[in-house]
Amino acid sequence: MSGSIVIKNGTIINRTLQLVVDVKIENGFVAEVGKNLKGDTQLDASGCIVSSGFVDLHAHLREPGKEEAETIETGSRAGALGGYTALVAMPNTDPPQDSVAVIDFVREQGKRAGLVDVVPSGCITLGRLGESLAPMAELARAGVTFFTDDGNGVQDAALMRRALEYARGLGVTLAQHCEVAELTKGAVMNECRCCTDLGLPGWPAIAEELMVFRDIELVRITGASMHFLHLSTKRSVELVRAGKRDGLPITAEVTPHHLSLTEELLGSYNPVFKVNPPLRSAGDIQALKAGLLDGTIDAIATDHAPHPRRDKEMSLDMAPPGMLGLETALGVVLAEGACEIRDIVALMSWNPAKIARIDKTHGCDVAAGNKANLCVFDPELTWSIDINRLASKSVNTPYLGRTLRGRVRHTIFNGSPTVIDGQARR
Ligand code: DOR
Repeated sequence: MSGSIVIKNGTIINRTLQLVVDVKIENGFVAEVGKNLKGDTQLDASGCIVSSGFVDLHAHLREPGKEEAETIETGSRAGALGGYTALVAMPNTDPPQDSVAVIDFVREQGKRAGLVDVVPSGCITLGRLGESLAPMAELARAGVTFFTDDGNGVQDAALMRRALEYARGLGVTLAQHCEVAELTKGAVMNECRCCTDLGLPGWPAIAEELMVFRDIELVRITGASMHFLHLSTKRSVELVRAGKRDGLPITAEVTPHHLSLTEELLGSYNPVFKVNPPLRSAGDIQALKAGLLDGTIDAIATDHAPHPRRDKEMSLDMAPPGMLGLETALGVVLAEGACEIRDIVALMSWNPAKIARIDKTHGCDVAAGNKANLCVFDPELTWSIDINRLASKSVNTPYLGRTLRGRVRHTIFNGSPTVIDGQARR
């Protein structure tokens, strides 16, 4: 679509302003914000919020290597439908993102799809094996600013300490998947009373919390910045809250599924509810929501984890953990009513853009001169998933049959619509 675009009559949400206006977009940038604007194309936004596009700190796009589950193109389209304009691509691909060649490939495939900014994360350790460090300096020179072994936590404390020391020198952020592996062998669900009744091996909260505690202390002695991925327990929130009170450079995220689904769902023995970390208790959910409200949790991130149908149809102990998230994140979070719309924009756009260090082009106020990476969503619209219409290549969503609230109407990436009236560009 060439020429100018005007988004009509939406309520823009900026850091210090909330106003019903038109937004004119030209040559990739917001050209003007005001009343009665005219352009070559008009997109209606009445009753909708116009905000900066969402930024996901945690998307498994599966390419290279696991294209049966997702490709960078299908994952990007799922992201655009969810209102995202940037996705941080997790490194547990095959081969993993531990070399400049793989990082360049992921970035190029992202550009080729052209639907969102695909921001490749780099591995902390070679092959994500936890034995020796990946070439972090070389990867940082190639533009990587976010390093993680997600899917695994870095078990070796000495190696993690060294990684943090390098990270500090390089000015990059490490993101930890907090899981002490010795404590979760064979585990499929949260360790709780019902796991014993169900005869399912339990995944104790302490497996997460020990690593959160260890890494906060490593940040204290190294001064490097650290992001905590998919926190799921009450005590993890308390540890991060205390660390922030001490002024440490730490940030944290929570997923929509850990805010909305509880451990009892595993009673169905349906692997669609198996995820790492596992679904926890209602008390944990309450603590995660309190963490969102008081600023302990900085971001809502999807942990979008597509898996082929035949893998997710295996028995609970064999099936891989993970669930889709990109197309439903907003609808789940708004349906949960965990926070105000303005907080959602902060948690899904402004804050993650800063954590990913892409805040010059994403998570910017909707204002003249800023890059036009925007999301237009109806916060009231209720809807449910049509499994045949998902953009993702996989269908492992736990939200089938649920009523979601809030739906993306238009997404604008780099000044061009990627989604118009809920339909993605092909
Ligand atoms: O549930 C999960 N699935 N958690 C992770 O950390 C990894 C992810 C995956 O890659 O499938």
